Amino acid sequence: MSDASSLKVFLNPRSIAVIGASRTPGKIGYEVVKNLINYGYKGKIYPVNPNATEVLGLKAYPSVLSIPDEVDVAVVTVPAQLVPQVIEESGRKGVKVAVVITAGFSEVGNVELEEKIVKIARSYGMRILGPNIFGYVYTPANINATFGPTEVVKGGIGFITQSGALGIALMGWTILHEIGLSAIFSMGNMADIDVVEVSELLAEDPYTKVVAIYLEGIKPGKGREFIERMSKVTQKKPVVVIKAGVSERGAKAVASHTGSLAGADALYEAAFKQAGIIRARTLLELFNIARGFALQPVPKGENTVIITNGGGAGVLATDTAELNGVKLLEPSQELMDKFRQTMPWFGSPKNPVDLTGQAVVDNYIKALKVAVEAPEIDNIVIIYCRTAVLDPMELAKAIVEFYKENNVTKTTVVSMIGGADVEQAIKHLNRNSIPAYPTPEEAVFVLSRMLMYKRYLERIKKAS
Ligand code: ACO
Repeated sequence: MSDASSLKVFLNPRSIAVIGASRTPGKIGYEVVKNLINYGYKGKIYPVNPNATEVLGLKAYPSVLSIPDEVDVAVVTVPAQLVPQVIEESGRKGVKVAVVITAGFSEVGNVELEEKIVKIARSYGMRILGPNIFGYVYTPANINATFGPTEVVKGGIGFITQSGALGIALMGWTILHEIGLSAIFSMGNMADIDVVEVSELLAEDPYTKVVAIYLEGIKPGKGREFIERMSKVTQKKPVVVIKAGVSERGAKAVASHTGSLAGADALYEAAFKQAGIIRARTLLELFNIARGFALQPVPKGENTVIITNGGGAGVLATDTAELNGVKLLEPSQELMDKFRQTMPWFGSPKNPVDLTGQAVVDNYIKALKVAVEAPEIDNIVIIYCRTAVLDPMELAKAIVEFYKENNVTKTTVVSMIGGADVEQAIKHLNRNSIPAYPTPEEAVFVLSRMLMYKRYLERIKKAS
């Protein structure tokens, strides 16, 4: 299947039925209905349960067939042996997609049961997400059809995960760190809808700025198709992937053979490169990079300047820049003279521009003004080390104000290093579309990956 348009219903369903909606708090079928209500879904919610008349104050129906309305999406939370019948009824009802949360299919060797539900669904032209998933979220339409945490933070990252437990845990983690998401798709066994199709769907979604994927593997024989279709996705939106494990199922027999593992990993590396996918090595990297893309424009040029109040942090940022292909601008005498005006006499107007530990808000804003006005500067890295003379929140607020007032479109990343008050300042920057990180290495690394994407888009443009 390769028609992402059949999946558009995920983003604007008129109604969602929860088949297996439970009356018992803590049960999956109860929590899904609760999340749909509490996250503010505005469409119709129809609990289906033959043993109940009401679930969470909503009228319950004995079968999806008895709902006196059209049903676009059905979330399935009945035990595995009941799923074929529920899918059959959903198909007859004209449901467009079934989100099958239920476990107990191919992941435990129950391949036939899984094939059976796909066959039934296909006979009605219905699509299946899962089985063996925690559901899906689409924040612009206030849809939280999962049994995970409720208050997902809205933003520009479309997150696709092949791991259920990890994905559901990361839902909570993104809330804690205020990482804004447009969507979360739990993929599970991918009996029908796969990662590529959901990527295609999110590539067309105006609220999704970047697609972040936790990938365990591509199905055997699907490598070429993956590259071809993902190449099209990356022309529209940046895609960042963390690939867990390096061996596919078939390669498990030789898992202890390091050579073949490296080979499999090299294949993924090559495929990602060809498809213009940015690879993250850790979960933190995945969300750091995604946050950069979600909040800032793709760099327009290569020349980068670092503005710092700490020499050491500036050096670390310089090292990361050099190791990751971020070009630090060699400032002209004229530009250095301008930066010189923004700092005490013992500062340095070279790149990194060192405002010294004595720097206050005024120094930063003056230096930022020089950087923004200099046509030869494309990207800005702002670094701040906590000092007694400059309150981090005061600086964060001044940066946000300066960027808003001046409509700055030069790609910018910030690093603020320090304690609890710095964490609050970082959050303030992130809430206001300036990606900020607790270490200079992270900030510069994110910029390096955004530059990679810029170069990829340029290469494609040239080739076409
Ligand atoms: N149609 C609709 N509802 C029905 C039907 C039917 N034909 N028959 C029974 N029900 C009702 C039940 O009465 C019950 O409601 P009640 O609690 O009010 O009585 C409700 O449906 C649920 O049925 P139960 O038999 O109670 O099922 P239970 O909730 O124990 O388990 C579940 C169902 C959660 C789907 C389970 O089979 C399962 O698969 N659990 C694992 C899910 C999972 O882990 N998925 C992967 C997530 S990713 C990760 O790893 C985090």
